[in-house]
Formats: sequence, structure tokens, C-alpha cells
Amino acid sequence: MADDDLENLPGVGPATADKLVEAGFESYQSIAVASPAELSNTADIGESTAGDIIRAAREAANIGGFETGSAVLERREQIGKLTWGVPEVDELLGGGVETQSITEVYGEFGAGKSQVTHQLSVMVQLPQEYGGLRGSAIFVDSEDTFRPERIDDMVRGLDDETIQATMDDREIEGSPGDEEAMEALVDDILDKIHVAKAFNSNHQILLAQKAKELASEHEDTEWPVRLLSVDSLTAHFRAEYVGRGELADRQQKLNKHLHDLMRVGDLYNAAVLVTNQVASNPDSYFGDPTQPIGGNILGHTSTFRMYIRKSKGDKRIVRLVDAPNLADGEAVMRVQDGGLKPE
Ligand SMILES: Nc1ncnc2c1ncn2[C@@H]1O[C@H](COP(=O)(O)OP(=O)(O)O)[C@@H](O)[C@H]1O
Ligand SMILES: [Mg+2]
Repeated sequence: MADDDLENLPGVGPATADKLVEAGFESYQSIAVASPAELSNTADIGESTAGDIIRAAREAANIGGFETGSAVLERREQIGKLTWGVPEVDELLGGGVETQSITEVYGEFGAGKSQVTHQLSVMVQLPQEYGGLRGSAIFVDSEDTFRPERIDDMVRGLDDETIQATMDDREIEGSPGDEEAMEALVDDILDKIHVAKAFNSNHQILLAQKAKELASEHEDTEWPVRLLSVDSLTAHFRAEYVGRGELADRQQKLNKHLHDLMRVGDLYNAAVLVTNQVASNPDSYFGDPTQPIGGNILGHTSTFRMYIRKSKGDKRIVRLVDAPNLADGEAVMRVQDGGLKPE
């Protein structure tokens, strides 16, 4: 999709194509669902030209269509549940983080959001009997928070039985007490986390499209992508669209980005995990300090919303907010050197 040649569209020359790509419109599909006004503002073209471009993109793009109820059922039967490694939190989620859904984890700085994305990048790789999905992970890192050392800590923090089963699964000879085998396991787990840094919001949008390509390449391999994390979803958008006048534009971009992420989850049966900050400034006149950035649009898109807040020491309270078919509730976990742990 990302390889679509925009210059094949009527009225699109190299300069317009560049502007479109820069704004995240790099596939026929993304243009097909844009409005003429949006496209005309983005690429400095007239609305009628924009309308022609959109019409041509619609013809060229595969924008999907209707499917039968049984096809929907078949897809839903594939939904996997991924453990946090904390039974109380899994229970809150009705069994774990679901594939084909977006899970939003929000909280203030230091709450443990990045710890969750690291932990799940490990857990997703575990055999299914141990709460994993035996898949690989994609990690879009917008705040430079990905640390292989934390993955190392978290692998070592798993219980011996899980470590042994995971070694066996990967045909790594040895046992949890064997340093050489442990290093081999950590390396193998790191090998199955695909990390990319996002330098700005447009880059992040492009990386979501790259993620889709990566998931497609891995679809029929031994390690299909089962987790796509974006940590943080909103930081760049928040930093770049600062004025009140830019709010609508920001929401529109964010919304489109979320749909791109959701699509990866749907098409490739992956869990989508995004983190989000809360406005921690208590003096802030606008905005409740416990509300996630992104407001309503994000609220409607993320299927599971988890609010993490600090408690005493390494304790954290995890609250499930507004989940469909699940009761709101809270669980307690600890953030430790070995990762997320039960109370
Ligand atoms: N190696 C470690 N051992 C124990 N706790 C750690 C370790 N690394 C990080 N933490 C805990 O995680 C917190 C940071 O969490 P983080 O996920 O970066 O927060 P957020 O992404 O929500 O801003 C630290 O304040 C600390 O409590
Ligand atoms: Mg973080």
C-alpha cells in the first residue's frame, strides 16, 4: 500500500505528491477516505482538483467492503488474549489484552506505561500455555524509552517454569540457572521485537504503515506479529500541535493514525497497545488532570482504556475505564526490577 505511486493520480505532480506523503497521505487508501477540504489544505490545491484526486484514489484503492456475519464470527474466534503477568489485571481485562483491539494505557509520568509496553513485548512471545501468543512484537518508540536492558531484566524476572518452557519452545538447550542459555534466550526474545523510533508525528504515521508491511511479511511465518505497541501515541502530536486553533487538525491526524493502527490489529490478529499521558499540571484551567490527552476521539477508538496511578513504593493501581462488556474495576500490581508483578 505504501508503495502506491501518487503521481499516477490526476493532477498530482512531484511537489504535490511530496506534500501529501509528508502529511501522511502516502497510500491510495488514505487519500480515498480523506475529505476534499482536508486534501486541499494539506497540498495547497483547489478543492475541485482534490475531489478529482480522491475519486481516482477510490477507484484505485482497495477500500474494503461488506462481509458476511460468519466471516466476522470467524475472525472474532481468532481473538487471542495476552497476559500482563499479573493475574489480577488479566482478570480485570476478562482474560488479558485482546488482539484485534486497541488497548490504551494512560497515566502520569513515571506511572509505568513504558514498563507495560516492555513487559507485553516479552509476554507476547511466550507459549500459549503460559499466557503468551507465541508471536513477535513491534515497538514504535516516540519518546526514546525502549531499553533492551529492561527486556533482559523482565525475561530474567519470569518464573523458572515459564523460562524453561520458553527455552524448550525455541530449542535453546539449558535451564534457567544456566547463564549461557539465559543469554541465548534474551537475545532470541530481543530478536523478535522490531523497534523503530518515531522522530515526529508524521514519521510516526508512516511507521504505522511500515508496521502493517512488517506484519504482512510475518503473517505466515513461525513468528507472526501479535503485538503492536506505540509508546507514546500522543507525545509528538501534543508537542507539535500546540495552539487551540490546531486542535481540530491534531485530532483528525490522531484519529487517522489510530485507524491505521487498528487496521494492523484487525488484519493480522495483533493486539494494539498505545500509551498516553495525562495532563499532570494541576493548575491547568482547561482539562481535568486525570484525563488522557486526545479527548473523546481516542476514547471512542480505544476499546480498552487502562488508567495507571502510582501508589506507595512500587505499587500501582490499574483501573479499567469504560470497557464494553466488562465491569469497571481496579487491580493492584507492582513495578519491579523483574517487571510487572502481582501485589
Ligand atoms: N529496573 C527497574 N527496577 C525497578 N523499577 C523500575 C525499573 N525501571 C523502571 N522502574 C519503575 O518504573 C518507573 C518508570 O516507569 P515508566 O514506564 O518509564 O513510566 P511512564 O512510561 O508511565 O512515564 C520508575 O519510576 C520505576 O518505578
Ligand atoms: Mg514512558
